[in-house]
Amino acid sequence: MGGSRLEELAFFKRLSQEGRKIGVQVEVFTPGDVRGESARTLTYVPEKGTWMRKLAPLPPIIYDRCRYKAAANYQMLKAFRNRHSKLIFLSRPLANKWSMHQTLSQSTEIKPYLPATVRYTSVPDLLRFLKKHKLIYVKPKNGTGGRGILRIEQVGADRYLLQGRNHSRTIISPFRANERQLEIKLHSLRLSPDYVVQQGIPLTLRDGRVHDYRLLIQKNGQGEWEVTGCAGRIGPHRSITSNLHGGGSAVPQDRLLGYRFSPDKITGIKNEMNNFAHKLADFLEGKFGKLCELGMDIAVDPKGGVWLLEVNPKPSREVFRRIGQHGVYQKAVSRPLEYALWMSKQKKAPLSEETKTESN
Ligand SMILES: Nc1ncnc2c1ncn2[C@@H]1O[C@H](COP(=O)(O)OP(=O)(O)O)[C@@H](O)[C@H]1O
Ligand SMILES: [Mg+2]
Repeated sequence: MGGSRLEELAFFKRLSQEGRKIGVQVEVFTPGDVRGESARTLTYVPEKGTWMRKLAPLPPIIYDRCRYKAAANYQMLKAFRNRHSKLIFLSRPLANKWSMHQTLSQSTEIKPYLPATVRYTSVPDLLRFLKKHKLIYVKPKNGTGGRGILRIEQVGADRYLLQGRNHSRTIISPFRANERQLEIKLHSLRLSPDYVVQQGIPLTLRDGRVHDYRLLIQKNGQGEWEVTGCAGRIGPHRSITSNLHGGGSAVPQDRLLGYRFSPDKITGIKNEMNNFAHKLADFLEGKFGKLCELGMDIAVDPKGGVWLLEVNPKPSREVFRRIGQHGVYQKAVSRPLEYALWMSKQKKAPLSEETKTESN
């Protein structure tokens, strides 16, 4: 877990700095640092520009940024949540890509935004799905950052193109084949029901690169959902994914939409994205309980149709920094802190109500 903590240390530093401005003390720790009711935490010391380690009581509010790369990490996190269920957790773990698809399909308002998705069963089933949709994505249900994702396209009567990234995110050589050869290749990949097979949305720009959008919706200091920002992402050449960690670059939303649509159309698409984001956030809160933020991977097809590719419960806000939207980036960092303040006031509110009546 040490490594995953270091991964976001720059973000935690920024959180600490923003926290200081509004009177929120930020302490960084992992479940492995917990000692009973205390934890060996890291505190940022701005005067020295360094982190200080100390034993401190567990903070009353938890902003969980742990990545569970291994099942063991997930178990530790779950144990921590169970043991300290009285603390306020700003968010909660959501479901894997397959369960999430099933959950979201229950909503008639959300379902039209979901690409057709099935769980992998067999090579013949996958081929049938491919012939129906002509373009498909195959993704590990627990994958992140574009790892282990395949894109298969039917490019002719008996011609197929398979591209993708392996589990360490390296781009694999494109494979062109007829159906028989593709079938052999698919057998060799040893796919399992741990994969989902999804209708592909045509996202290739004129120069051959793929693109999509990352929208960040967060709770504000009044405990209400607000779209903080949305940015475009363009994958590197020869990549079938746009993730920044896979070498993608960030672009302002308007500029990227402008490559394909007229200004009028752009306004409509942006409104639809924002309305959809609110619907999704409300629905997920109803299903999973209180949440503080969600990152949505959104695709816009060539006709302007909006699609949800994935929803991330622990989103990065890096895109906004990369495109120089520093105001949006700052909001993206400070909102969880403002929401935390609001949450702690909510918790205290019934008490102060009592005090009021007593003094009356
Ligand atoms: N159905 C799809 N159609 C088109 N592109 C897709 C599709 N699914 C995924 N992608 C591309 O792959 C990227 C990663 O997929 P995603 O489902 O977000 O998984 P991860 O958890 O690895 O980020 C997306 O950001 C997008 O660029
Ligand atoms: Mg994603």
